[in-house]
Amino acid sequence: MADKIRVGIAGFGTVGTGVAKIILENADAIEARSGVRVELARVVDLDTTTKRAVDLPDGMLTDDMNAMLDDDSIDIGVELIGGTDFARELQLKMLGKGKHVVTANKALLAKHGGELYAAAHKNNKCIAFEASCAGGIPIVSAIRTGLAANNIRAIYGILNGTCNYILTSMTSDGVDFSDVLKDAQDKGYAEADPTLDINGGDTAHKLVILGSLAFGRQIEMDDIYIEGIEKIELDDIKYGNEMGYVLKLLAIGEKGKNGKLSLRVHPAFLSKDNPLSRVDGSFNAVSIFGDAVGNTMYYGRGAGMMPTASAVVADIIEVAMGNSSNLFNAQTVESRAETVASLESMDNVVSRYYIRLLAKDVPGTVARYAQILGDNGISISGVLQHEEHNVGTSVGVIVTTHPAEESKINAALKTIKELNVIDGEPVCIRIVDIPEDDLDD
Ligand code: HSE
Repeated sequence: MADKIRVGIAGFGTVGTGVAKIILENADAIEARSGVRVELARVVDLDTTTKRAVDLPDGMLTDDMNAMLDDDSIDIGVELIGGTDFARELQLKMLGKGKHVVTANKALLAKHGGELYAAAHKNNKCIAFEASCAGGIPIVSAIRTGLAANNIRAIYGILNGTCNYILTSMTSDGVDFSDVLKDAQDKGYAEADPTLDINGGDTAHKLVILGSLAFGRQIEMDDIYIEGIEKIELDDIKYGNEMGYVLKLLAIGEKGKNGKLSLRVHPAFLSKDNPLSRVDGSFNAVSIFGDAVGNTMYYGRGAGMMPTASAVVADIIEVAMGNSSNLFNAQTVESRAETVASLESMDNVVSRYYIRLLAKDVPGTVARYAQILGDNGISISGVLQHEEHNVGTSVGVIVTTHPAEESKINAALKTIKELNVIDGEPVCIRIVDIPEDDLDD
C-alpha cells in the first residue's frame, strides 16, 4: 500500500470541482482513516478562467493535458470530462502512461468498457468507477465486496437523479416535466445533454455497469430494453396515485429460473408501500436481492457535485490502498466467452399493467375492451372511471391487470386501439411488484 498518492484531475466542472475541494479540505481526515496522503498534483480544463467553488494552489490549473499525462509522479488520472470519444482516448493514454484511472463516466464504460478494461489489464493498472453509478451511494463496492458471498437474483434501481427529481415534482406539485427539467439542470443533476437522462439512456448505462458486476456477465447497451419518461403525462401520475401507486423510472435486472437475464429500464408504477416509492427528489436507491442475504437496500444522493465527488475520492483512496486493483483483476468479465449474457426476450417478461384508454361513454364500450383483454388471456384486476354526465363524450378509463406476458398485452392493445369507441393511443405503464424479500420462496 502506498502511503502517498498523487492525483491529476481532467475536467474541472461540477464533479471535478467537488473532487478538488474534498482532496484539499479533507486530506488530513483521509490520511487519518486510511493511512494514505492524497495529494492533488494537477487539474486540467480548457476553461482556466471561470471562478469555481474551490481555490486551487497557484499554477495547478492548466489547459495542457500533457502536463498531467507526462508527469510520472502522478499515480492516478481522474477522468471527469464525460462523453465517449475524447474521454476514451484520454483514459487509454492515462493507462498507457502507467496511471490508474478513476472515473464517473458511465456512458464511456457502458459503451467501451471492454476495450478500456483490457487496456488496464495490459498495463497492469485498474479502472475504478464507483462514481459512475448512483452518485454518492457506494453501490459498486457493495456488490463487489459486501454481497460477494451471494448469487444475485435481482436488482431494482432508481438510478437517475434528474428523472427522479422531475417525477417527484410532477407528483408533489402537479407541474409538467419541461418546467422542472431546467431546475434539475440548474442544480447540477442533469447530464450536459439532458436527453440522456430523460430518455432512460443514463439509467441504462448504469444498469450495464451494475448488472455486469452483479451477475458476472458481459452486458451491452443493446441488451437493455429502454423507455424514458418523455411521454409521461400528469394524468397518469394522478390516476396512479388514486390507485395507490407512485411512478418511478426503474432499472431492472432479473435472473430468471432458466438462468436468462432480463434487463430493462422503463417507467414503473410501484406500490406506495414499497420503500423505493418513497425515494424522492434527486435521491437514488437500489434494492439488491442475493440468495443468501435476501433483500438489501441502498439509498443516498444520486447526483450533484459533492455526492459524486465523495465516490470519486473513495475510489482514489481504494486505489491507493491496493484494494481496487485486486477487485478489478478478479471481477472484470469483459473478455471471457462463458460470461456472455443470455437474455430473456422482452415478449416473455411478465408484469402487471396500468392501461389508460380514452373511451366513448356509450353502451357496450367496457364489454368490448374487456372482451379483447379476456381473449388474450389477460385478467383485469381493477377499473377506474369517473362519472361523466355528458353522455356520448369520451372519458378516461384506467384498467389494471393481473400478471400477463408483454407479448399478450401488446397484442391486446393493438386490437383495442382499432375499436371505434377508443380515441387515440392507449397509454400503457408497467406495474412492478417488488417483493420485500423472497428468501422463503
Ligand atoms: N445525470 C445523472 C443523474 C447524474 O441525473 O442521475 C449522475 O449520474
